[in-house]
Amino acid sequence: MINIAIFASGTGTNFIALDQHIRENQMPIQIACLICDQPDAPVVKKAHELGIPVWTHRLKEFENKATYEQAILQELQKYDLELIVLAGYMKIITNVLLGAYPQAIVNIHPALLPSFPGRHGIEDAFEYGVKITGVTVHWIDGGIDTGPIIAQQAVPILADDDVDKLAQRIHRVEHDLYFDSLCQVLKQRKLIK
Ligand code: GAR
Repeated sequence: MINIAIFASGTGTNFIALDQHIRENQMPIQIACLICDQPDAPVVKKAHELGIPVWTHRLKEFENKATYEQAILQELQKYDLELIVLAGYMKIITNVLLGAYPQAIVNIHPALLPSFPGRHGIEDAFEYGVKITGVTVHWIDGGIDTGPIIAQQAVPILADDDVDKLAQRIHRVEHDLYFDSLCQVLKQRKLIK
């Protein structure tokens, strides 16, 4: 089995979509654990329902970001992880985790990076008035939504769109593109066919 850890902070639709794709396609991939910085987030409940181990603590429970990430690292080291998959994890990853998992941490962002990074990629693109936005899957470095791009898919902004309609279409694209991109990475590493 190829073990992956998912990091999320909120609703968890990408988490659920990945779990569904893995099951439906009978992939030899196991979501070994969920790491969540918001114990009340819906994604935590979803992971419990699926029987996926959860580590959930707020940053403020720790002395600083480094000790927080060291605690996460201790949890992650229980599993032989191939990839760390950020799915709406709203914290910057620092050197503690980047150093422990080089070339192994992937993020998804709801815009065509390097445009509209940050927490509000969909809204920012809509308000700017671009005609095409989209979804980016990329390796992470220490920046906010920066790092080498793995895959992108464009999503047009239609004349009668509002932010909600656009967000729905973006999320639909995310849910397929993330799974496809992870498979692409694992194929390149010759871990799956
Ligand atoms: C997703 O749209 C993801 O691209 C975004 O958070 C959302 C999480 O939704 N991530 C970022 O904005 C990263 N800067 P989900 O909890 O339903 O998967």
